[in-house]
Amino acid sequence: MLVNAKEALKKAKEGKYAIGQFNINNLEWTKSILLAAEECKSPVILGVSEGAGKYMTGFKTVASMVSAMVEDLKITVPVILHLDHGSYEGAKAAIEAGFSSVMFDGSHYGIEENIEKTKEMIALANSKGVSVEAEVGAIGGEEDGVVGNGEVADPNECKMIADLGVDMLAAGIGNIHGKYPENWTGLNFDVLADIEKATSPMPLVLHGGTGIPSDMIKKAISLGVSKINVNTECQIAFAEATRKYIEDGKDLEGKGFDPRKLLAPGAAAIKATVIEKMELFGSVNKA
Ligand code: 13P
Repeated sequence: MLVNAKEALKKAKEGKYAIGQFNINNLEWTKSILLAAEECKSPVILGVSEGAGKYMTGFKTVASMVSAMVEDLKITVPVILHLDHGSYEGAKAAIEAGFSSVMFDGSHYGIEENIEKTKEMIALANSKGVSVEAEVGAIGGEEDGVVGNGEVADPNECKMIADLGVDMLAAGIGNIHGKYPENWTGLNFDVLADIEKATSPMPLVLHGGTGIPSDMIKKAISLGVSKINVNTECQIAFAEATRKYIEDGKDLEGKGFDPRKLLAPGAAAIKATVIEKMELFGSVNKA
């Protein structure tokens, strides 16, 4: 059964661990992530960008597939189906389609408009038992066509949005979607500590989980981060495993043409990546 993120994130914040959000693109990714979560006895958040939702033909297809897969695979851990970087219209559509959680990314609006729209979204989501993530201070890099400037969030603005009653808050602290550049200066822990002080006990979200060194991840969790998003790392693992399979010539031999065989190494690589992250985030055996 799908659940919203409220209870799982509250427990994560209290227990000083983080729940991973792993983005899905198709059936294989979804299956790999669910199996990893079940094996780890860890709660899990399946992230769906608006682009990935369209690719999978629409939010309804995604919600139906995920719900059915949770049942067919006999998944017992909490599974949260979450819209990643939702627009105002997109978040409404995801709630309508049966997502259990949405991110409304109003970070590109001015703070007043972000507050107004976030308020409306909270009222709508709460009436349907859906949790809401808001964002303050854009995350750097590009996420599915959405470009952020890598701002560092203002703790006062974070408090304003947190006080509206969102369930989790993403705040820019120098994090970037995709790979980090050579000259990246790292996460801004002073700002994170100020945001935590201003918004506690609000669960904080760290986007751009790919490529952040383990010690920084652990420090971020110790400072109040309870949800960490990972996407690019799964994409790289999938692509590398698939390329190796093709380069080894296995797809050209006999049944190698079978798409189930061709996609199997990539799916296994995603599962291994997710397990590694769950161990790092401390969410193993927390379901
Ligand atoms: P990465 O692609 O950098 O892992 O970031 C994922 C993310 O933050 C999704 O919102």
